[in-house]
Amino acid sequence: MNILKKLMSVFHSKKNTSMEKEIYEQADVVFEIIKKYINSDYSINIELPDEIECIALIASGSSYHSATIAANFFREKMHISAQSYYASEISLMDRIDVNKNTLYIFISQSGETTDTNKALELISDKTDKTLALTNTKNSTLYKSAKYKLLTYAGAEKAIASTKAMTAQTYCIFLIAAKLMQLKFMPARDFIDELLNVPEYINTAFTKRSEISKYANTLVEYDNAAILASGMFYPLAKEAALKIKETSYINVTAYPTGEFLHGHIAILNKRCAVIAFVNNINSKYINKVFANVNNNYKTDSLIIASKPDILVEEKNIISIFTSSDIEFLFTTLILMQFLALDSAKILSKNVDKPQGLSKIVK
Ligand code: AGP
Repeated sequence: MNILKKLMSVFHSKKNTSMEKEIYEQADVVFEIIKKYINSDYSINIELPDEIECIALIASGSSYHSATIAANFFREKMHISAQSYYASEISLMDRIDVNKNTLYIFISQSGETTDTNKALELISDKTDKTLALTNTKNSTLYKSAKYKLLTYAGAEKAIASTKAMTAQTYCIFLIAAKLMQLKFMPARDFIDELLNVPEYINTAFTKRSEISKYANTLVEYDNAAILASGMFYPLAKEAALKIKETSYINVTAYPTGEFLHGHIAILNKRCAVIAFVNNINSKYINKVFANVNNNYKTDSLIIASKPDILVEEKNIISIFTSSDIEFLFTTLILMQFLALDSAKILSKNVDKPQGLSKIVK
């Protein structure tokens, strides 16, 4: 990197951007949500319709990633049939089959995304089991859905969504907790876990220097692949989106095992690999990294839930997490820092990335 670029990056790193401020607001945002929705007797202060057998989650961009994390959670941990949909794809459909026992959850920070509102309009014609999960009271989405849930993240100025995405992901877990209670499933331990999230976020903040060090490496690459599995795969997609939006590095997320089925051909000396490694996908990681380390020697990054994974990689951040919820929120914050710090090093305007707008009409 040339000297001018380095000087520019020092200059930018001193400035406090909205994105940076919003990242650091996240523990407080979750505290606020806890106050609004979790009562001292562990009841959840959310109104849901009766007889929910299935869940459909519809959204765009980062909100879609929250939706997909949630869909995985509903299926894997609660055995409820759940699916996420891109709002833009729903809005193009001529015919939509609506199931009367499905809860349709529409997620949007702004509540004014045209595709999401159009999808709500189409589905509202056929069912009133619609719920708007939004950060914006009195937005079109909020007013149009039968059930409403505010995320209380406060105004989000940066185009890259950080605190709003965290807030909506947290709120969907509260919907999950409420459903556990309605279905007489044990919910107390899960709610205790959710109450720990502000602490997980504060701990993640202390790891910024480790991730910033890797940002200096990532910016030297043209491309990156992010690998993860299960409900962490949509998290990898969120990380890829955040890095693309702020740093314009070409980052693509892949499910870890699927990467070995041909996609691995994209590896070369100009492609870094970032992997989220937890118990479920460690068996694939060794194969991928054997290939990376033997053939390309790129400076890749592993974020691991435990320190004892078998891969030899110089950039490993072990976060010793005790639960999937902890791994999820910690990794989400670390990836936000990676996006922010990479963009700063590259002297990009993180609050107003080129060609993007906060609300896609
Ligand atoms: C996120 O960083 C993006 N700016 C973008 O993908 C955004 O999440 C998407 O356009 C949806 O916006 P919404 O949540 O306001 O509907």
